[in-house]
Amino acid sequence: MPRHPRKLRLGALAATAVAALAAAALAGAPTAAASTATAATTTAASRTTAGSYNGLALTPPMGFNDWAKYGCNINADLFTKTGDALVAKGLAKLGYDYVNVDDCWMQKTRDAAGHLQVDTTRFPDGMKAVGDHLHAEGLKFGIYEDAGTNTCQGAAGSYGHFDTDAADYAKWGVDYLKLDYCYQPLSDYPGKTPAQVAQIVYTQASQALLKTGRPMVFSESAPAYYYDGQDFWDIMKWIGQEGNLWRVGDDIADNWSSVLTNYTQTSTPGLARYAGPGHWNDADMLETGNPGLTLTEQQSQFTLWSELASPLLLSTDVGALSGAPLAIVSNKDVIAVDQDPLGRQGTVVQSSPAGSATPYDVLSKPLANGDRSVVLFNKADIAQTVSTTAATAGLPGGGDYTLKNLVTKARTRTTGTIAATVPPHGTVIYRVSRGGGTAAPATVVGLGQRDFPGGKAVTVPVSLTDDGPSPLKGAALSLSAPTGWTVTPSRARIGDVLPGHSATAEFTVTAPTPPEGRSTSTLTATAAYTAAGERLGSAGEETVSYDLPYTSLAHAFDDVGVSDESDTAPGNFDGDGDSYSAQALAAAGVTPGATLSANGYTFTWPSAAAGAPDNVAGGSPTIELSGSGSRLAFLGAEAGFTSDTVTVHYTDGSSSTGTLGFPNWCCGATDSYGAKTAFTTDHRNTPTGPANYGVSYRLYTNAIPLTAGKQVASVTLPSSSAIHVFAMAVQP
Ligand code: GAL
Repeated sequence: MPRHPRKLRLGALAATAVAALAAAALAGAPTAAASTATAATTTAASRTTAGSYNGLALTPPMGFNDWAKYGCNINADLFTKTGDALVAKGLAKLGYDYVNVDDCWMQKTRDAAGHLQVDTTRFPDGMKAVGDHLHAEGLKFGIYEDAGTNTCQGAAGSYGHFDTDAADYAKWGVDYLKLDYCYQPLSDYPGKTPAQVAQIVYTQASQALLKTGRPMVFSESAPAYYYDGQDFWDIMKWIGQEGNLWRVGDDIADNWSSVLTNYTQTSTPGLARYAGPGHWNDADMLETGNPGLTLTEQQSQFTLWSELASPLLLSTDVGALSGAPLAIVSNKDVIAVDQDPLGRQGTVVQSSPAGSATPYDVLSKPLANGDRSVVLFNKADIAQTVSTTAATAGLPGGGDYTLKNLVTKARTRTTGTIAATVPPHGTVIYRVSRGGGTAAPATVVGLGQRDFPGGKAVTVPVSLTDDGPSPLKGAALSLSAPTGWTVTPSRARIGDVLPGHSATAEFTVTAPTPPEGRSTSTLTATAAYTAAGERLGSAGEETVSYDLPYTSLAHAFDDVGVSDESDTAPGNFDGDGDSYSAQALAAAGVTPGATLSANGYTFTWPSAAAGAPDNVAGGSPTIELSGSGSRLAFLGAEAGFTSDTVTVHYTDGSSSTGTLGFPNWCCGATDSYGAKTAFTTDHRNTPTGPANYGVSYRLYTNAIPLTAGKQVASVTLPSSSAIHVFAMAVQP
């Protein structure tokens, strides 16, 4: 870590002062407070990586925060009921004990005495009542503010009022403060860098909390606002001296790409050294239980967050959490990795080569008892075998290890290879310890074929590898495929497999003709063998994916843009349940199946009945198309403000690209991206019927160039879902 003596000295002085206060404030609190005071007399450099500034959060906080699931749609009931549910579902016992209120609990202005004012519509009995309810069930109470002039939602910020606010939190029984960093007071500190300003205000807030004498975990959002720039790394140098955890990157959302972004940010090389007992990198909330992630992805987020020693804050309807998602977050073995007392953040120890079509990471986290938690993370959209070694994972040699799969609980024994076939977006988490005991050998089942042209017999080699120190006896492999596929034989004997060796069986597999568009199928291979005196099994899988051109644009339609005014479920052109009105379009001359001319182009309007899918909204489908000409014209509009790439494929195998965008359907410049208005309607259709907001709803034409003299074979449409295409045509 580069040294910046001046800044460190400033931080060190502050830390000494606050640590003394902390020790006084927390007299009688666990020994950690005492060790904080000791830490303050050691070097500044060691204080940035070890010790809790206030004696709290010696393991990453666990509990609930409402923001990702509820935004501002909160009230006191949500938090008291969440507390009840955490207890009722056994989650509180597992460590989920903080119930944190995010933004929107307060008003936009302070009272005459300078105090924050609670939003009494949402919290009619004030904040203390929520805290009291939670405390009565043995839980802890968290709250949100902002170190700037306003919260991110525009309510009164804490800047300039840190002492007053901290005293109020203490009065209300607050145990945890998340201090966000919207509306930063940079202009009050001319000549200072953003990192220096952040240090000033967060130090003030941190000291204000300590001065109250009430132990409060302090979560600081400053780094997230400067992710990976110079200010970010400057902030990292002091932030652990004044707080317990800090968001490092983006706001989490309920989709896989968001989880991947936050994982990538939190596993940024160099960041793990700032994590340790009392001070943690925060990857943001868990999306477990919400609809946007598959179960595999929910397990992966939980596994990765635990491996990264991130806080585990649920952001879902805890009362409704049940079944597999509840099991994921209740997994004591994975929680133990997150909460391991050594407090080391796992790091990436091996990765796929840059630009790989099948990316993966291997992470390793040292644990207090000398074990390592090793995660094999398949980032790819298809299954793959991820393989590493105990040495790469940082385990001392010895050649005999036990792998405990923390999800399936299976224990196996390896001489050094740590591998598994991992589903798309999946993770396998092993707790690896030295010594193999009596467990059966670790094995991997791998499939060696991904290419399955429909209707053609293909040979699929399936292998069973023995990574353990003893043989697999009487092994057999079987392969299963989805309905419609044929596999022969269904089972093949491969005899004994020796340690460090593989045996392979070949299967003949015929796939049915795949459907148009994108689809995936999964082939599953299972092995059965005798080892450690038992008949055991293991499995592997292969993802077969297809991206076949649609034979017509209509076959690719995936969105309802036009609906009848009598329809109570009127499509979803704008993502909010609004669409074009079939009646208003008809008045403009646009009816199902009509030939339309506009701006010199001729199209066929979709023949779909109102209320049926009638346009392509992103997703980059490829559509067969023929003809040659100078331009490819489109009829469409946007529920957004963006342009994106269209790729034209020609019969000679070459391709060309163009940029396509339309103006927003109602609101914005009507000539964006070079488009022109084609048809104008004076109202739209909404879930409550036709609506006229004093604006027009339009359809536009736009076009991209074609390569002269070439025959078009197919077109790949934009990936952006904001861009809606109703019709396209090759123009002379
Ligand atoms: C964001 C923050 C979110 C949430 C929100 C509230 O800046 O990253 O986690 O707190 O503000 O307005």
